[in-house]
Amino acid sequence: MIMPGVLRVLILGDVMGRPARRAVRDLVPSLVKNEGIELVIANAENASGGVGVDIKSAKELFDAGVHVLTSGNHIWKKKEIYSYLNEKENLIRPANFPTGAPGKGWCVWQQDDVRVLVINLQGRVFMPQHVDDPFRCVDEILHKYGRNIPLVIVDMHAEATSEKVAMGWHLDGRASIVYGTHTHVQTADERMLPGGTAYITDLGMCGAMDSVIGMEKESVIRGFISQLPRQFEVAHKNVMLQGVIVDIDTSSGKARDVRRARIPWQASH
Ligand SMILES: [Fe+2]
Ligand SMILES: [Fe+2]
Repeated sequence: MIMPGVLRVLILGDVMGRPARRAVRDLVPSLVKNEGIELVIANAENASGGVGVDIKSAKELFDAGVHVLTSGNHIWKKKEIYSYLNEKENLIRPANFPTGAPGKGWCVWQQDDVRVLVINLQGRVFMPQHVDDPFRCVDEILHKYGRNIPLVIVDMHAEATSEKVAMGWHLDGRASIVYGTHTHVQTADERMLPGGTAYITDLGMCGAMDSVIGMEKESVIRGFISQLPRQFEVAHKNVMLQGVIVDIDTSSGKARDVRRARIPWQASH
């Protein structure tokens, strides 16, 4: 531990395809060592080809030192992941999908006597699926499973800034950190809320900065201009890991500090 009684957590935004998986593999182990990080969380919904995550990609991220993978609307793209979601405790999908969806929307990570409840939610504003209410859903999870676990980390996978900000305030004092994913562009509003919850509207992504949210920019621009359906390719230029590092008091569960992380990656061919 970096300080007694403090858990340092690295949380990475949406991992965009192979270049980002390689960047995670190359950069995370040294970050963990140099920064005294004990828990690593990443959003894996774009890890395979930029849309969805397959078993191979999930395993690559776990092997790179990621402890918990969250996800979002794209988690259902690769069918092989459905059974893997049922098997693998620490790959989670948004909790507020209707009952019967494969997998779970939360998990507990434990090291020694420190336990962390990680919850994944999906917003309902400007999102493709009509999921259940994320606000009531998180209240129920905290009521059922959070009573003896003060450390709570919430990935709010959502498009609308307002819905993410609202979730931050809804959970202030009840979660250690609430962060947004899905838009792939890092916001500069990281802060401590008065109840002790760290908050940021979007972590950004792990992926190519010379892109349109991780995809080759030329084909996305042509898509906007032509309005015709197009296949998008994952972009490779100027890859960076983006996310936050948050320090959490292990007895109270309150965050002490949150800072943005932006770590460039040089491919070692
Ligand atoms: Fe994403
Ligand atoms: Fe998404």
